[in-house]
Amino acid sequence: MHSHRELQQRKLSYQQQLPIQMVTAVVVLDSKLNIQYVNPAAEALLVKSSHKLSGLSFDDVLNSTSIDNERLNLMLSSGQEFSDSDVTLEFFDGYRITVEMTASSVDLNQTSHILLEFKQIDQQKKISGEAFQHQQWESARDLIRGLAHEIKNPLGGLRGAAQLLGKEITTEQQEYTSMIIEQVDRLTSLVDRLLGPNQLPKMSTQNVHVVLEKVHKLISCNNPKNIQFIRDYDPSIPEITFDEDKLQQAILNIISNAIQAINITGNLTLKTRIASNQTINGKKIKLSVQISIIDDGPGIPTNIQDTLFYPLVSGSYNGTGLGLSISQTLIHQHQGKLSCRSRPGRTEFMILLPFLDKNLPTNSTLHNGSLYNNMKRKPYEQ
Ligand SMILES: Nc1ncnc2c1ncn2[C@@H]1O[C@H](COP(=O)(O)OP(=O)(O)OP(=O)(O)O)[C@@H](O)[C@H]1O
Ligand SMILES: [Mg+2]
Repeated sequence: MHSHRELQQRKLSYQQQLPIQMVTAVVVLDSKLNIQYVNPAAEALLVKSSHKLSGLSFDDVLNSTSIDNERLNLMLSSGQEFSDSDVTLEFFDGYRITVEMTASSVDLNQTSHILLEFKQIDQQKKISGEAFQHQQWESARDLIRGLAHEIKNPLGGLRGAAQLLGKEITTEQQEYTSMIIEQVDRLTSLVDRLLGPNQLPKMSTQNVHVVLEKVHKLISCNNPKNIQFIRDYDPSIPEITFDEDKLQQAILNIISNAIQAINITGNLTLKTRIASNQTINGKKIKLSVQISIIDDGPGIPTNIQDTLFYPLVSGSYNGTGLGLSISQTLIHQHQGKLSCRSRPGRTEFMILLPFLDKNLPTNSTLHNGSLYNNMKRKPYEQ
């Protein structure tokens, strides 16, 4: 049996620790609506440390918000708590999030305060949207694969028959059989691309920058548009397990699109970071390597943005629309995720490769701070 004092102490210790562990962001405002306390989840949400936030109002931290100050003031006098399931927070860099907010009034240190609890909901919407997109992509890919498989079988026979026929006819007539063979070969290579990567990955553990450097060399050798290639690497990223050829292919497909899209000249950035707490295929992944390929070209045409990764979706008159679908398959073979954000002037393709358990970095293998590089948009200011 625990004594009353022990129970009290236990309760107190839980009360002190819980706000630190909570996923819900908690903010306490004083009666002038200035921030007095934030828990770590609120620090992450507002991308600032509690030290920086203390004494500020939401107007100092946010460019705009749908939090209604009048309603908060009214609540202070009436004590009537309220919830709002669609509160937007817009930061000074233009980044916007949607949160669910509950406001209640509490007495702390004998004065009235406001307790705000925030839950980010657009993240949940994004995850279910991603899962839907992924399902659609898989069905489109399977349909095309099935079709490609059916086309491939007779092509072999067609080629063989044309070859045999070629032996029976005059040299002039052979021109026609060679045409048949040439076209069959063209169709076979298209069908092979439609079938997608068919080899199992050959995994090895190494530094991702090895691949990026090879890619950089390749694209620098042939650069008629005189594009500036910028490398923005986090050199502290530990080694990770992947198939070098497949990763290289996935990145090259993305880069070749960017190079094609850039009009006259422009910039292309290869960026690496450690990303924490990302959702990959519906699973929360603690640590992953993020490789971003960013260009300042015209952006993805809006009519194909939703189906960008589907096979045969192309915005260019001579494209087959297979490059990104193949990249997606290759990244999936690594249990990773390929996504894209695009607007005119900035297109970013982001590859996330999870650290599999066996080479999950420990604190000692990670450079200070690099873990937080992508925790949010930027590490929050201390
Ligand atoms: N960085 C980018 N900027 C603008 N548009 C892009 C970019 N990347 C891809 N796209 C658009 O996405 C489309 C699909 O790309 P994808 O690589 O899948 O096919 P493709 O390039 O048309 O053909 P393929 O790669 O099979 O030769 C492209 O046609 C292009 O319109
Ligand atoms: Mg392409």
